[in-house]
Amino acid sequence: MKFTYYGHACFSVEAGDKTLLFDPFITPNPLAKGIDAGKIAADFVLVSHGHGDHVADVSDIAKRTGATVIASYEVGTWFEGKGVKNVQAMNHGGAAKTDFGRVKLTSAIHSSSMPDGSYGGNPCGFVVESAPGNFYYSGDTALTYDMKLVGELNKLDFAVFPIGDFFTMGIDDALRAAEFVGVSKFVGVHYDTFPPIKLDRDAALAAARKAGKELLLPAIGETITI
Ligand code: NI
Ligand code: MN
Repeated sequence: MKFTYYGHACFSVEAGDKTLLFDPFITPNPLAKGIDAGKIAADFVLVSHGHGDHVADVSDIAKRTGATVIASYEVGTWFEGKGVKNVQAMNHGGAAKTDFGRVKLTSAIHSSSMPDGSYGGNPCGFVVESAPGNFYYSGDTALTYDMKLVGELNKLDFAVFPIGDFFTMGIDDALRAAEFVGVSKFVGVHYDTFPPIKLDRDAALAAARKAGKELLLPAIGETITI
């Protein structure tokens, strides 16, 4: 599957002829100044929780592209209130058939509030099933034992995990998460953007090698095939 990294925890995945964009935070991110949020394509925008570093560009991109926003109930209805027309406001454990296949909301241990301070519900992750492949994006989260269930219930081609530590899992817990969900490779996100989440890249890659996992760290703006 084609995976494009837009910095922080923002990325898109091509699922057949549909483009799935996750957690767009581009215009406020100095590391992503080479990316024009006004040109990013999306058929679906999946939002893991309400924090600003995951939602900054959701409204603009959804309104420009007409993409459907998929999020938890509270996050989704907040965007409806902001004038986003197509919203699929779900909740944890729920799955829905979509144009690209199927999406299920998984639990995450983190927090969630909207940029204006409104209640943001509980944070989530996503299991995406599609004809070209299946993957899991945990969203911002601690390592949880529930991830074992994700591995038991799904045959995944890859995963996407935060690895920056401090606000989320660090690399060691992300490697354990990869083990729990049964993937041999995962993309690391949610690092370098802020001083507390600066990543020691060489150490992270060495830890992954030692654990027998492939850690993918595409450059911002880079597209890789997984
Ligand atoms: Ni967060
Ligand atoms: Mn975050």
